[in-house]
Amino acid sequence: MVTQVKTRMSKKLPYARGEWPLLGCLPALLRDRLAFLRECAREYDEACGFHLALVDSILLLKSEQLHSVLVEHAYDFSKGTLMHKAIGGNGLFISEGEFHRKQRKLMAPSFQPRHIVSYADTMTRYGEQMQQQWHSGEEIDLNKAMTAVTLSIVGKTLFDADVFDETDAFSAAFVVTFEYTSTTFTSPLRPPLNWPTPYNLRVQKAMRQITERLQQMIDERHRSGTDGRNDLLSVLLNARDEDGEPMSSQQLMDECTTLFAAGHETTAASLTWAWYLLCQHPDIYKKVQEEVDGVLQGRTPTYADLERLPYCRQVFKEVMRLYPPAFSFTREALRDMEIDGYRVPKGMMVMISPYVMHYKPEYFPDPERFDPDRFTPEREKQLPRYAYIPFGAGPRICIGNYFALMEGQLLLATLAQRVSFEMLPGQVVKPEMNKTLTLRPYGPVRAVVHRR
Ligand code: HEM
Repeated sequence: MVTQVKTRMSKKLPYARGEWPLLGCLPALLRDRLAFLRECAREYDEACGFHLALVDSILLLKSEQLHSVLVEHAYDFSKGTLMHKAIGGNGLFISEGEFHRKQRKLMAPSFQPRHIVSYADTMTRYGEQMQQQWHSGEEIDLNKAMTAVTLSIVGKTLFDADVFDETDAFSAAFVVTFEYTSTTFTSPLRPPLNWPTPYNLRVQKAMRQITERLQQMIDERHRSGTDGRNDLLSVLLNARDEDGEPMSSQQLMDECTTLFAAGHETTAASLTWAWYLLCQHPDIYKKVQEEVDGVLQGRTPTYADLERLPYCRQVFKEVMRLYPPAFSFTREALRDMEIDGYRVPKGMMVMISPYVMHYKPEYFPDPERFDPDRFTPEREKQLPRYAYIPFGAGPRICIGNYFALMEGQLLLATLAQRVSFEMLPGQVVKPEMNKTLTLRPYGPVRAVVHRR
């Protein structure tokens, strides 16, 4: 699989040989994205070059290299042309340069630890509301339940809107849109979205549903006004540029769609994997419940309890190590440069994969093992920086990282206290990477609820 290609720099970048002359490694990547990444990490120590059709690419495999790209040279890279605008248009996830910096500055206060304290009660309230609807012996789909609760939380905390009773329709529309976005990479010959094929009509309908519901929230807020409210939607509505102009309605919609999408899909994935892993590791599940029972004594957890529930936090972090929802992301070099001695010419696609980093045995010994003790404060401190990067790093680090960590820990505690889940036997719970945008189980994850 290894061929050496001469570069002008001191280090030679080894290239993975593709199966097809023109397509390079694209077929292998499209067949199974995770397997392709794993294979590269197995074959190469430091970095691996490959061609995805005409796109010259490099996968970085050392934590120092990630620092170089994501932090040190952050502004020498763009997010790249591979980023798809179907969801979120020019929202925060996609936008670039000065415009991105301005939008990020505008939204950052709503995600700072000081501010998200006020979200804790909403998170646990929806967790309690959901578990109260379950009875012992009932079979539920954990994937659907975790999506519903995280959607409700993002709706209430950031938009002050209650979508708890409409999460089925809402999340179904997101699933269709995510699948469309994900298959953009796998079906390059697909007819453009504005052609009225049955599939395109289904995708257009889903996108319309999301936009219409978000527009309703925006219209409602225009009617009721933003006085005295400091949710993110009000912040976006009140923003003015240097000329005193408000954000355009298209930009507002793009930001709202981005936040709704990014704000629930990833956390729902992590929580679903968390229950799946806990059910497979009863000793760890028991330790979680012992911690929760001891600390909470039947109370609903609050923000102040977070530091008293360290094991729940460790579990959530270890889940994101094994199943990082954003399993890989890319950058595009804006100028010729050198990273760790490798030549990275302008236009090269740089791939960064939390999934690959999190399974490197030199960072995480016995990497396949689910072991929340890797994240005790003492052991976490010993990890090399950028070896654990579920939220990325640098100026484009996930804006919702504290939000997500708090939500994960609080929902684990809230639900573990009230119920135990038992996975239905015979299920194959696995990702279907060509259908989902993130690393999440595809389809139902069926579990029986036992009330405690
Ligand atoms: C387990 C949960 C989450 C994970 C693993 C995750 C992961 C990530 C990663 C890796 C990035 C950076 C991508 C890159 O550098 O190209 C990112 C960016 C982003 N995330 Fe998250 N995220 C999570 C939760 C959230 C939540 C709860 C929100 C909002 C409520 C959110 C909103 C965003 C936004 C808006 C960006 C773009 C930030 C920018 O470019 O300035 N994410 N996320």
